[in-house]
Amino acid sequence: MCGIVGYVGKKDCVNVLLDGLSSLEYRGYDSAGILTMQKNNNNTYNLNICKTKGRVNDLKISAKQFGISGCIGIGHTRWATHGEPSDINSHPHMDSTSSIGVVHNGIIENYLELKDTLINKGYAFASQTDTEVIPNLIKDNYTGNTLDATITATALLKGSYAIAIVSKENPDEMIVTKKDSPLIIGKGDNEYFVASDIPALLKHTNKVYILEDGEFAKIKLNEITFFNSNKMKLDKKYKEINWSLEAAEKCGYPDFMLKEIFEQPTAVRKTINDNLKNNKFLSELKIDDKFVKSINKIYIVACGTAMHAGLSGKNLIERYLKIPVEVDIASEFRYRHPIINENTLMITLSQSGETADTLAALRLAKSENAKTLAITNSIGSTISREADHVFYTQAGPEIAVASTKAYNTQLATIYMLMISFAEILNIDVTKLKQEIETMANKIEIILNQSEYIETIAKTMFKEKDAFFLGRGYDYPVSLEGSLKLKEISYIHSEAYAAGELKHGPIALIETGTYVICTITDNELLNKSLSNIQEIITRGAKVILITNKKIDSKYYDYLIEIPDCPSEFSSMLSIIPMQLLAYYISKLKNLDVDKPRNLAKSVTVE
Ligand code: G6P
Repeated sequence: MCGIVGYVGKKDCVNVLLDGLSSLEYRGYDSAGILTMQKNNNNTYNLNICKTKGRVNDLKISAKQFGISGCIGIGHTRWATHGEPSDINSHPHMDSTSSIGVVHNGIIENYLELKDTLINKGYAFASQTDTEVIPNLIKDNYTGNTLDATITATALLKGSYAIAIVSKENPDEMIVTKKDSPLIIGKGDNEYFVASDIPALLKHTNKVYILEDGEFAKIKLNEITFFNSNKMKLDKKYKEINWSLEAAEKCGYPDFMLKEIFEQPTAVRKTINDNLKNNKFLSELKIDDKFVKSINKIYIVACGTAMHAGLSGKNLIERYLKIPVEVDIASEFRYRHPIINENTLMITLSQSGETADTLAALRLAKSENAKTLAITNSIGSTISREADHVFYTQAGPEIAVASTKAYNTQLATIYMLMISFAEILNIDVTKLKQEIETMANKIEIILNQSEYIETIAKTMFKEKDAFFLGRGYDYPVSLEGSLKLKEISYIHSEAYAAGELKHGPIALIETGTYVICTITDNELLNKSLSNIQEIITRGAKVILITNKKIDSKYYDYLIEIPDCPSEFSSMLSIIPMQLLAYYISKLKNLDVDKPRNLAKSVTVE
């Protein structure tokens, strides 16, 4: 939700900020802005702001016309929460004397109260945002030092924030701080880069300081100093990030989403790696046999696509390990008083490692003494730092808002977890252990059918509604396929367990309604065929994804996927669903990577 960037160095910062914002645009894209510190001839300074409703590309045009420059600057790409997307509500925001400029990611929950107090003291507000209280509050507490004023002001804030601040009073420095929203600082040669996420920095450096909640950094040319809220200096070390720059660029693909779909074989291979050899997976996670044997309940908690990956894990874990598994939407889990104790394992799945509800659910589980395991794609993310154990999926940067490769690496990780636990519990999973190694090659085989899937998309892209059906392991993946279709093609789409259809939704099936059916489970084959028969009778057009030999009377379009144990089939059946959604979105001329109203990293409730 919102991306922030900053630069302190010797270069003109405008292009650095605009480039950084382009690579963070997946975090929000309804407006964008930059602010630079500009030195006047008489050695005074001005804060120059250029901001606009719209995309970073619109901002680039405005910045060129405006002629903004400077060696210290901040920037922002917004996903609106308080105040509609507009020029005025775009960040950066300044205090009412125009001496302090701020960009902010997060939500200030007590902003109305703070705003009233500030208005009573004579401060004026231009926007409807919560953010505008921050520069005014810093100004109100300013007694000659921006860092001190920021420490005092942020103590009054309730909610979440990552903020970067520049002030005319201390024109050679930038102050940054955070609480419950991510913020990192890249160390270049005699320059520093501030950003919400790693892709914005990769072009410049792989040396990254990860700011913790309640820490402050004062950044000057050639110098960075970290403080806690008691103004005590902190000794922080940077981490080296092993993502390549190419990984965060399109590399010839028209969109990040297509690139990321095609990266799945590599991402899955890297994630599985040699983790299943010599029990490496659990030993690296530092989970001991004694705890595995004591687990009496597993919660898998996540949001969106990650939650769908969790649902696929449930059936598998319960079937083999005989441990009850509950999969929860994080925003529900945190408020539903779940039963947790020290024998509970709570697994949080999160690509970004920053999703606010997932983080809150993790904190709740920890406070009730559960053991927590984070499966995330983001090194150093808040969830990874707070969980007792962490496994990093090796998807590499996922930029498209619609998640694809992260989902498949999450599935691979849950499968590995189940296999590793089973070995400790003396449950025979030899066949599955062998099969998991073949999944990446099988994904490749499906990707070779992309042109064929595009021809199916051409028959379907003008539809208003679609349904996804599956039983057993094919149900959670249908939920994910349906989500992909609706989020990037805006076709209304719903997924049902195939046996449930006749309890209501079948009323919506009429001549020509597209239904994407998945059948990969031998045990449920005949049941699924009966359900398909029911919808064909009512005129449905069936796209069938399967690895079984099925009579052509059951489908209009057949997408064959390689044979595999049905336990792992979601890793394969999701590929045609992702491609179908992608091509439909392209045929409708939509922005595949940045669908309307969405953001990739949801750091607000
Ligand atoms: C957003 C994204 C989804 C993602 C979900 C959870 O809704 O658009 O693609 O699945 O957040 O994100 P996480 O980073 O926690 O996996």
